[in-house]
Amino acid sequence: MEQKISKLKNEVKAKIASISSAKELTDLKVEVLGKNGELTLILRGLKDLSESERPIVGKIVNEARVELEALFNEKFSALERKELDEKLLKEKVDITVDKNYTLGKVHPLNAIKRKVIDFFVSMGFIVTDSPEIETQYYNFDMLNIPADHPAREMQDTFFITDDILLRTQTSAGQIRTMEKTKPPIKMISPGRVFRSDEADATHTPCFHQLEGLVVDKGITMCDLKGILASFAKHFFSKETKIRFRPSHFPFTEPSVEVDVSCVHCGGEGCNVCKHTGWIEILGAGMVNRKVLSGCGIDPDVYTGFAFGIGLDRITAIIHGINDARVPFEGDIRFLKQF
Ligand code: DAH
Repeated sequence: MEQKISKLKNEVKAKIASISSAKELTDLKVEVLGKNGELTLILRGLKDLSESERPIVGKIVNEARVELEALFNEKFSALERKELDEKLLKEKVDITVDKNYTLGKVHPLNAIKRKVIDFFVSMGFIVTDSPEIETQYYNFDMLNIPADHPAREMQDTFFITDDILLRTQTSAGQIRTMEKTKPPIKMISPGRVFRSDEADATHTPCFHQLEGLVVDKGITMCDLKGILASFAKHFFSKETKIRFRPSHFPFTEPSVEVDVSCVHCGGEGCNVCKHTGWIEILGAGMVNRKVLSGCGIDPDVYTGFAFGIGLDRITAIIHGINDARVPFEGDIRFLKQF
């Protein structure tokens, strides 16, 4: 019996060594160690042996079993490794093969955004970030837009809960900054804003603004006008003029809408400026006293101005884009032009 087992063991060892596929190895394992395998049958036959032989042979069979199992496992891992190596070699992709790849570039809107940011940073503004998912408190209440104010309807948006919404304006960032920082404050906050508008040539449910805020002692509307005039000249051309038109925003008092002389016709009147010679680019004003005191800033000591630039609008003016939806579509034929 001992010899029989040792012969079987050697035969199996030789077979394991010569096998080169996992499938063959599995078959062999079943043949030897499976339910009806050779070694299993020997083990079952132990009951027919004499009582003195049984433990001796039993021990030998078990040792053979353990030894063979270890050999099978070792071979399985070796085959797995080999198969993986072969697969990796076969599936290797040579990324240098296609020399006709197209290089991506900065989206026209982001290029304009960076240019606007660079201008304000050069004037000493710091760049802040503010959440796109906001609360009514920051987006409306603290900006002096109470629940029943008509401005809420004009800025209808996507609500996540009754209180949490996608911000309609980067102005919410003013409050977050004033709550955290005491004057002097000189910041800009660019980002996406959302309104539940049907997309058409002049509206998209998501668009981009850049908020600006300056709060310090003795800030006046002259400072606002000076900064915005420099911005317009830097951004459009040296000849560009700005004008303030009276307007209303609940968080500024007084409020203005700011136009630049038409960059296409220089103010003569053309299709772009609808023959008025002027193009509106932003809303601005002196920070409302209520907003300052709401943030713990004494309006008798400090004053400030704020503005909100429509980045999509500026991009459209500069590049002559006449449909607000197009920059969002990612159409390569459009993007290639910039
Ligand atoms: N948040 C305004 C809007 O979305 C734009 C605006 C107007 C921002 C006046 C300001 C401001 O900071 O002072 O229509």
